[in-house]
Amino acid sequence: MATYPINQIRNQFPALNRTYNGLPAVYFDGPGGSQVVQESIDAIVTYMSNGGANLQGQFPTSRETENYILEAREIVADLLGTRPEEVAFGQNATSLAFSIARAVSNTWNRGDEIVLTEMDHPANIDSWLTVAKEKGVNVRWIKVDSKTCTLDLSNLNSIINEKTRLVAVTLASNAIGTISNIESISPHVKKVNALLALDAVHAVPHFAIDRKKLGADIILCSAYKFFGPHVGIAVIRKELFEGLNTYKVGPSPAKIPDKLETGTQNFSGISAIKPAIEFIEKLGTGSSRRERIISGYERIEKHENQLAHLMRNGLTSIEGVKMFQSTNLIASTPTIAFCIEGISPTDFCRKLAEEYAIFAADGHFYATRLADRLGVLDKGGWIRAGIAPYNTVEEVERFVSAVRQITFNAVMEPQNN
Ligand SMILES: Cc1ncc(COP(=O)(O)O)c(C=O)c1O
Repeated sequence: MATYPINQIRNQFPALNRTYNGLPAVYFDGPGGSQVVQESIDAIVTYMSNGGANLQGQFPTSRETENYILEAREIVADLLGTRPEEVAFGQNATSLAFSIARAVSNTWNRGDEIVLTEMDHPANIDSWLTVAKEKGVNVRWIKVDSKTCTLDLSNLNSIINEKTRLVAVTLASNAIGTISNIESISPHVKKVNALLALDAVHAVPHFAIDRKKLGADIILCSAYKFFGPHVGIAVIRKELFEGLNTYKVGPSPAKIPDKLETGTQNFSGISAIKPAIEFIEKLGTGSSRRERIISGYERIEKHENQLAHLMRNGLTSIEGVKMFQSTNLIASTPTIAFCIEGISPTDFCRKLAEEYAIFAADGHFYATRLADRLGVLDKGGWIRAGIAPYNTVEEVERFVSAVRQITFNAVMEPQNN
């Protein structure tokens, strides 16, 4: 495999030129939203300056808008191993989850069951909880094993049963990076003819996924997490999608995928999805676009895992640092959550930004059930450092040395922290 072209990659992200308090800014806040690749930014400018238009017009700008949408669906289909007509766009993953939950739950009856997990972001919990309550549907939980920081799959045989209508699971935790073992969950879901809804928002920036292989009926993700615009993406398996009774205004198309896309879409944003995915594709090789995307991901994964390894080793060598990570690090994204004894995550991250120009987030990242289970909910949550394809070894070293320094200062001068 050719060397990872880190300089060429960094040149594509203009935000990396930013300085803060006289220092080059370091972005470890990717899980909250990655930086945007130049070609995506250019696409938005081009869309807006070339003459945008609404759909179904007999003039070029309208046809061009329709074409941007089509191209975006096609490349997302290659990204997620699905079909273009199964790809719908929306405001964000959360709004799409609420719309889908409403439509899917139309056929649920009192006494049915759904299965949610303690690991998930509430986008893939509260959307389903809301409709479950409306329909009198019981909710069962896949718990988190706090020792291994993974989902406890030991009772799947009873949790997923004849009454189960849907199982909603995150593909990867946005807080601690654990990748869920969908291969083990999926057969249980299929056995009882339930639906599998995967939250891939935190997964898609880091590894290749294949809807069919995963056995997913619904997938959610968001382009602003993978180098692109603020547009939510939903994939719904065609046969399910066609039968869904979605909430929409009368005159809008009843066909898939349009029927999930209420109102006028974010056309400029949608035009910027393709270049964001092409960023991944261009790192890869292969004869089809899907092959190049998968091979691009392999290079990203290798680079990110090297940096994550370096960061984890550095952090664990600092006294007072407590890591929250899956015991199986192969099945983790390069997202590293930790706490430091005696320092609040908020104070720590403020210092990190103000004194070192390193941007990392603090809190529970909406993963409140997970934070509760791991004992950090009432302690300000975690400090989270997420590695992205544009991060470097030097940045990781700068981060580890800043953590060491802040921790040392806190021990020496506890009254200042
Ligand atoms: C795992 C996960 N799921 C869902 C969401 C919500 O996505 P959106 O902001 O597109 O609604 C996020 C956002 O951080 C997330 O990390």
